[in-house]
Amino acid sequence: MGRAKKVVLAYSGGVDTSVCIPYLMHEWGVEEVITLAADLGQGEELKPIQEKALRCGAVESLVEDVTKTFVKDYAFPAICANTLYDNRYPLSTALARPLIAKLLVDAAAKYGADAVAHGCTGKGNDQVRFDVSIMALNPELKVLAPAREWGMSREEAISYGEKFGIDFPVKKSSPYSIDKNLLGRSIEAGPLEDPMTEPPEEVYEMTKAIADTPDEPEYVEIGFEHGIPVSLNGDRLDPVALVSQLNAIAGKHGVGRIDMIENRVVGIKSREIYETPALLVLIQAHRDLESLTLTADVTQYKRGIEQTYSQLIYQGLWYSPLKQALDAFIAQTQERVTGTVRLKLFKGNAMIVGRQSDNSIYTPDLATYGADDQFDHKAAEGFIYIWGLPTRVWSQSVKS
Ligand code: ARG
Repeated sequence: MGRAKKVVLAYSGGVDTSVCIPYLMHEWGVEEVITLAADLGQGEELKPIQEKALRCGAVESLVEDVTKTFVKDYAFPAICANTLYDNRYPLSTALARPLIAKLLVDAAAKYGADAVAHGCTGKGNDQVRFDVSIMALNPELKVLAPAREWGMSREEAISYGEKFGIDFPVKKSSPYSIDKNLLGRSIEAGPLEDPMTEPPEEVYEMTKAIADTPDEPEYVEIGFEHGIPVSLNGDRLDPVALVSQLNAIAGKHGVGRIDMIENRVVGIKSREIYETPALLVLIQAHRDLESLTLTADVTQYKRGIEQTYSQLIYQGLWYSPLKQALDAFIAQTQERVTGTVRLKLFKGNAMIVGRQSDNSIYTPDLATYGADDQFDHKAAEGFIYIWGLPTRVWSQSVKS
């Protein structure tokens, strides 16, 4: 008796997920493996990946283009929440996992599979995100994770695959582990494992080195409606076009590189390099527009929510009840976050230089230092007397 009869496997075309196909069949007695590759705008031809799965023994090889859903339903809500895990990582990889999990669960239902599978190892965050998302969407569905159990090194995995006729073309083998999609690239391993080693320039693809960026700054204007980015330099764009175009512009100016030591869910610290040009610019711009349109207390309270929300996404809890509850809070706060933010991109920086909104609660009459000042200066005196009263009482008491 095998562990499952029919399995839908999340497939990337890489060594691990390719080896998973014969492994599931020959070691775990699975009868049919259906692979599923998600097109998340990673800019890769998925046709060869589709054919490769069949050569590896899959009975069916699915490719689903979900780029638009990815940006609209996963990235944009994160932008509304200004999500930055550990204050830095905009979750470009993490956001893709709940969507892939949903595709797996839906495909399992459609094809009558009794399990789904992924190629994650036992050390990373992605296994947590897949497993938890899958159990949230279908608590009865089995999840198989061969790479968590097989105990093979990369070389051993390659020779295992070769036994079943899987060829791994001898392309210049990269020491890095890379995940990419429209939102960005995550790069780890190889020389990057030494936290003191500067990332070699070769790891970057979406962002230019400062030395190679234009010597003239470039301005961009991002329009938001209810917190959602809708236009770039006055052109109304669909979500995918907006993010791709902004990636290109910001990347050209070297904006969006992150080098950090990260706290993984499984307790390990890891050294991660990211490049997420558009996502970082959008979060920065969005946060600025909130400062123009939301009251101080909502903005400040939301900071705490944002931190929790970032952790939820990082930790695989996208489909959790807490996430749903926070979504309701965030949606309420975004009602008036409509307007335009102007940024200046130059030599790796995205500086905010202007913002405008019909819902602005910035009040020139109150803010001005000019003659038309409407603020009642005398009222400040009584306010300060009462505001400072507890502190004065305390000081008098400890001094006496
Ligand atoms: N550490 C990141 C995350 O947990 C990225 C992991 C992506 N995988 C990779 N092979 N680099 O979201």
